[in-house]
Amino acid sequence: MTTSPPKYLQEDSLSEECKKLLSILPKEKGWVGSYIYNYQGCWTPPRLLQGVIACQQQFQAEDSDVILVTTPKSGTTWLKSLLFALMNRVKHPMFEPNHPLLVNNPHVLVPFLEHTLYVDGQVPDFSTFTSPRLLATHVPFASLPKSIMDSRTKLIYLCRNPKDTFISMWHFANNLRLHHKDTNSIHEMFDLFCEGLSLYGPFWNHVLDYWKQSIENPNKMFFLMYEEIKEKPKIQLKRLAEYLECPFSMEEENCGVLNEILRMCSFENLRNLEVNTNGKLSTGEGNKVFFRRGEIGDWRNYFTTEMSDKLNHIIEEKFQGSGLKFSYV
Ligand code: A3P
Repeated sequence: MTTSPPKYLQEDSLSEECKKLLSILPKEKGWVGSYIYNYQGCWTPPRLLQGVIACQQQFQAEDSDVILVTTPKSGTTWLKSLLFALMNRVKHPMFEPNHPLLVNNPHVLVPFLEHTLYVDGQVPDFSTFTSPRLLATHVPFASLPKSIMDSRTKLIYLCRNPKDTFISMWHFANNLRLHHKDTNSIHEMFDLFCEGLSLYGPFWNHVLDYWKQSIENPNKMFFLMYEEIKEKPKIQLKRLAEYLECPFSMEEENCGVLNEILRMCSFENLRNLEVNTNGKLSTGEGNKVFFRRGEIGDWRNYFTTEMSDKLNHIIEEKFQGSGLKFSYV
């Protein structure tokens, strides 16, 4: 069993530049590590901040890149698998027995920029990546590396209703906190979430900034919610294929390629793979922590009426006039 939190939450071996920056940034209590810091309006643990800055300074986007941006615990693992299968279906046909998704966790096939590739502040080796590169990030819009918006790189944004996001995040943090031998009270964490103090929070700012971009520039930013994929997976997969300019042919549809992508990437299938039950990521987490329950509405099993009312009120206030509506809240 791992005895320390994943690499991106560790607080040692920070660069001098990062330490200097941390000393002047606002800080608050973190969910897992000691503190989170406010950088460009967003709350981040120190090691991730180092990754965000390295990425901002060094990442050179290519026109053909596809970048998945998500709020933590919104279904990133799922959408990574769907996009990988979709974009690589010529190189890795869906019915092949050794499909990479059967033996690799989706986070290995679609790495995070700041959590993984830039976490040590180093220049990553992109030479093994084939084009188009499929990458992921949790950074808010204001902190995206400049080259992403300056290039023709396509972005896909995923979020999830804030109540289920919170519950998923609370479980995830408790899992990581097992290493610290205590768990966070749900009420304490809920109050922090409502104040905007969560990983890459405030949640509302993260979502709203990308939502606005997707309205202004729909060819650059595709906005999606976990609940929409759950409800109409086939329709969303087709929309994604069209957005990425690799639509399904009639022949593919008739041969069941879409259904096979959805089946392979389903919660049950991915969760039960050997790699996802017993494997671990290089950052330290066991792969199984990414497959907890995979359902809409689990918040009902945890929220009191007061919690629900409080969050409804915040959602109403933060999102009014934006045209964005969460379902199942
Ligand atoms: P729960 O904690 O509600 O179960 P992320 O990948 O962004 O970390 O999000 C994790 C959430 O997505 C978890 O939610 C997890 O169970 C769910 N999830 C992972 N794989 C999934 C899949 N294939 N289909 C649906 N949900 C999935």
